Amino acid sequence: MNQSSDQTINQTSGLKVHHIGYLVKKMDAAMDSFRRLGYTVSQDTVFDSIRNIHICFMEKDGYTIELISPSDSTSVAAGLMKKYKNSPYHICYETRDLERTLSELTAGGYAAIDTPAPAPAFGGRRVVFLVSPFLGMIELLETDRHLND
Ligand code: NI
Repeated sequence: MNQSSDQTINQTSGLKVHHIGYLVKKMDAAMDSFRRLGYTVSQDTVFDSIRNIHICFMEKDGYTIELISPSDSTSVAAGLMKKYKNSPYHICYETRDLERTLSELTAGGYAAIDTPAPAPAFGGRRVVFLVSPFLGMIELLETDRHLND
């Protein structure tokens, strides 16, 4: 039996998978390639001037992928591209309480690699990225409702 079974792990509350983030060098070619696999565009490409990336969303079978392409070498995504090439590199989880989830995860060993900041691709909803020593990078996205509170 595993030392930590599902029953004994203290789960982080209220996380919902939102998308899988995919680094791509050439956005248009990547979109065409995903179309050939049966994906459709759910949100067309926008430019995020905070992060210097082009970003779009595609869907298939209820799964959402986010395609991220650095616009130039100053983009944080350009550094990631050197490391990961064209590949999925994070899973994004939606949370109703960004601050609480962030503090729960950092208390549990995650390191925040930036601070919560508005993301134009999500209508200004805030996102933050964290790294776990055991499963790599994740993203947290606050739910819509925070903007309406
Ligand atoms: Ni993402």
